[in-house]
Amino acid sequence: MNKKELWDKFDSTFRDFDLENGAYAAPGRVNLIGEHTDYNDGFVMPMAIEKEITMLAQLRPDKKIKFYSLDYDQLVEYDLNNLEYDQENVWANYLLGVVDEIQKLGKKLQGFNLMFTGNVPQGSGLSSSAALEVVTAMTICDLHKIKIDGVEMALLAQRAENNFVGVQCGIMDQYISRLGKKDHALLIDCRSNDYQLVPFKNDDYQIVICNSKVERGLVDSEYNQRRNECNQAVEFFAKKENEKITALRDVELKTVEKYKEEIPENVYKRAHHVVSENDRVLASQKALESDEMHKFGELMYASHKSLSEDYEVSCKELDILVEIAAEENITGARMTGAGFGGCTVNLVKKDRTEQFLKIIKEKYKKETGIDAEVYISNPAAGARKIYVEPQPDY
Ligand code: GLA
Repeated sequence: MNKKELWDKFDSTFRDFDLENGAYAAPGRVNLIGEHTDYNDGFVMPMAIEKEITMLAQLRPDKKIKFYSLDYDQLVEYDLNNLEYDQENVWANYLLGVVDEIQKLGKKLQGFNLMFTGNVPQGSGLSSSAALEVVTAMTICDLHKIKIDGVEMALLAQRAENNFVGVQCGIMDQYISRLGKKDHALLIDCRSNDYQLVPFKNDDYQIVICNSKVERGLVDSEYNQRRNECNQAVEFFAKKENEKITALRDVELKTVEKYKEEIPENVYKRAHHVVSENDRVLASQKALESDEMHKFGELMYASHKSLSEDYEVSCKELDILVEIAAEENITGARMTGAGFGGCTVNLVKKDRTEQFLKIIKEKYKKETGIDAEVYISNPAAGARKIYVEPQPDY
């Protein structure tokens, strides 16, 4: 739909109250490197993608909130004074969680109408939920003239997911959706919540995302289990080495190796992944800054191996996608996101992109019977107000 059609739809869905209104957008993300490190106070390097959620909104003079999902064609209504988890319309909880967290800050909200639509594939590890939380936070804050800085807004969106939706995610997805920058990846320090821009505008290379189309069924329980195993590792190292160790960020690879025989095997493997992955993220930043794309590509393959063998969050289909990339001498490839399905991220020479898209789809179909989807994306901008105004004749 173009802008006018979107506002038409908005106006035919909701009554026009002639109050503050606006349009906003927030992107999905792909993580280039640094997987399962965010909740270990470590480093991640995601980029926002050119797929996003657009939200149109308007204040109401009462305490009602109405959400219309254009893609589900569902309209739901709640009362600001009585927010409860919605068992029936599960998608609405991402928005309700954000409203709840804003109210918890002591901010007084008035009612509002929201309508949204997006093209971030759902359940594919490209953070459609974070995009929805972030665009909702930006919309509500802007309409109410509530000033919250970028990191605070990302943290608020993360709390919405942790507390209301009930998924114990880290900070990466909401952070990049809020603070992403065009033509840049972000190196985020998930302990201090600072970030550095890492230029990613190489005329010779392209980021290609391959969607395995495998539903990420086990992801929530396995995710929480990995978090527990990491906590077990922290407790162990704090006891053995130094009580100042509060996260795997504080542990060096040589320490992990020193206790290999003493820790349960699964805990050793999880720690080995996280600690080595943090090193790979910092090495990747250097490689990208000095335009050493081959070096970066090698680090991506090494990250995948570690996620598959040590952290055990890959799956057959993701491994196949990475193997095909390796057979085709693609510069870099790895699974991205929480794992157990979803997407791989590939660093591809521009002049090979077209051929690669064709071959990976063919080979993947032959080996798995599944039609993969492929998306090309440059690093995109983070959440923002998009000046989609209602048409003058409204
Ligand atoms: C999910 C979570 C993130 C992060 C990744 C794994 O996307 O939402 O916080 O932990 O998994 O790197």
